[in-house]
Amino acid sequence: MKSSPRIRVIGSINLDIVARVHALPRPGETVSGGVLAHYPGGKGANQALAARKLGAQVSMFGCVGKDAARGQALALLQAHDVDLHGVTVLEDIATGVALIAVDEAGENQIVVAPGANGQVSSATLSDLSGEFDATLCQLELPVETIAYVAARVKGLLCLNLAPAQPLPQAILDRADILVVNETEAAFYGDQLHRSKALIIQTLGAAGAVASQNGKEIARSASPAVTPIDTTGAGDTFVGAFMVAFLSQGSVAQALAYACAAGAVATLTAGAQTSMPTPDQVTALLDRTA
Ligand code: RIB
Repeated sequence: MKSSPRIRVIGSINLDIVARVHALPRPGETVSGGVLAHYPGGKGANQALAARKLGAQVSMFGCVGKDAARGQALALLQAHDVDLHGVTVLEDIATGVALIAVDEAGENQIVVAPGANGQVSSATLSDLSGEFDATLCQLELPVETIAYVAARVKGLLCLNLAPAQPLPQAILDRADILVVNETEAAFYGDQLHRSKALIIQTLGAAGAVASQNGKEIARSASPAVTPIDTTGAGDTFVGAFMVAFLSQGSVAQALAYACAAGAVATLTAGAQTSMPTPDQVTALLDRTA
């Protein structure tokens, strides 16, 4: 167990362009009156920052374009001393962008234009040799890149299967920890159950459950909060779970900590702008104990 675990995140880096609206548009509908904001985002970068702010040493691996968006996309990772030596700046391609609408209840709709994230490959990940306590990936990179990472990295591998997409069983079999939400759990179905990994399933406001080999190991409720913006809450959960699990070694404690961290993240607008400090997480846990 480590007081400051070393985590390598291999994943997406986006600029989130967010419109806050009264209600999310239905297909074919135009909703006006939105209020616009830009925030750093991307599931990889979000999880990297969440883990860093909660005490991990974090190295980020990914790609951005040589454009103005990359400065905004990387700003908070830089400000919080995430190691960015593994981030490659590519010519002639845009930094990933997510177009996000957030409604009054904090729910969102997200469309991602991956840009440079789609170029993360064995060529841009030339050095996977560093010493880390865990490697953390999501599915906003090409599947062949995830397969390469899964086959090459040594040690504990956590895969957040978001957003869900078809994957070879070998990737799931290599993972030590799989994190899914309810939609992703339904998408992977039997594939998930064939895996021997520790499976962490988030249940939205209802909390999260951990299971392995078909047996429930732990379950945690989520502290009740009134959300402002749920964007990045799932990423905060993943980053927080990894930090707590690697630091304390208890799945039950890590689950409770991650649920509280995810709840705090819903209280502020934006993805990375909402990632909590340890004090904020502890305060919410104390309040709801
Ligand atoms: O999980 C939230 C993230 O998904 C956003 O920050 C957006 O960039 C998309 O990748």
